[in-house]
Amino acid sequence: MKIIGTGSALPKKVVTNDMLTEFFDTSDEWIRTRTGISTRRILTDESLIDLAIEASQKALESANLKAEDLDFILCSNVNNNYVYPSMSSIVQGKIGAKCPCTDLRNACAGFIYALDVADAFIQTGRAKKILVLAAEEPTRFCHWEHRETSVLFGDGAGAAVVTEGGDYKGAQFTTISMPDVLYQRQRLEPTPFEDLSSGAYINHTMVMQGREVFKMAVTCCSNEISKLLDIYGYKKEDVKYFVLHQANLRIINGIQQYLGADASQFPTTVEKYGNTSSASVPILLDELVKGNKIQRGDMIVMSGFGAGFTTGSLLMKY
Ligand code: ACO
Repeated sequence: MKIIGTGSALPKKVVTNDMLTEFFDTSDEWIRTRTGISTRRILTDESLIDLAIEASQKALESANLKAEDLDFILCSNVNNNYVYPSMSSIVQGKIGAKCPCTDLRNACAGFIYALDVADAFIQTGRAKKILVLAAEEPTRFCHWEHRETSVLFGDGAGAAVVTEGGDYKGAQFTTISMPDVLYQRQRLEPTPFEDLSSGAYINHTMVMQGREVFKMAVTCCSNEISKLLDIYGYKKEDVKYFVLHQANLRIINGIQQYLGADASQFPTTVEKYGNTSSASVPILLDELVKGNKIQRGDMIVMSGFGAGFTTGSLLMKY
């Protein structure tokens, strides 16, 4: 598998840390020192589907392909206006593609899983040109009176078009079933046959044990990346960029320190976009590609971690 096009799209509304002090007791200083975040983009009058379409069209344009050329669409998404149909099938119709589609729901690690699935489709000859998309609106998971989570997130979409060829090495994945560490309940309609006092319908906003998430993210991703480098015979110096999920600058610094790699190998967007869940890796990738920071033949690692607890990392020559 090789990446032949990238694209991204962000909401136009820029929300600064100071603007958040209107809703709860926090400060620019607390948010920046704990997370590295200064601003984030939040959906207002656009929908997440608009962003997903824009990112997909930009990726197709940079791959020099038309939507009709695609033979599969994979979308990482945990939440949008619809429970069904899938986000990928909505995007398929809007961009004018005709191919089959499916969504993956793996929270912040979703884009890594989707890219690896795309590679498997290509290797087994089931598809040749695949749009891999991640579109997320985590700001709608937050309870906007809960400062512990609301300050962390932003919305966005990122996409890549992949085809056969290139030099994809492989991926490492970890799933440790810890639903209490980071979860969000679905908003469900109760039936008349249930005990409504059970609490199952009360809390449908995000619940996160921040410190536990922090430790799990640094440990799992550092282990996966070390394993990948070992398996394929590369040193950390051989990697041009570690394109990590942009959740928190301190998590990125933790992984950098664990690996003993140079800070310049860890590009970031978390300062300006916050945590856009699984969209953060393709958004950062797109910025690196469009900014001519990544050239053909550069070795890159991509890595994501999130709810559940689920992490994934991959190694490829761009
Ligand atoms: N503003 C001001 N004070 C706050 C805020 C806030 N936004 N949030 C929490 N506090 C307070 C707490 O109430 C607590 O006060 P207390 O000492 O009086 O009880 C104090 O700050 C310290 O709180 P901690 O939770 O201990 O702060 P910590 O240093 O652990 O930082 C943080 C919290 C930033 C959430 C950290 O744990 C973290 O980064 N965890 C990882 C979270 C993450 O990245 N999640 C997403 C990854 S997975 C995914 O992408 C879905």
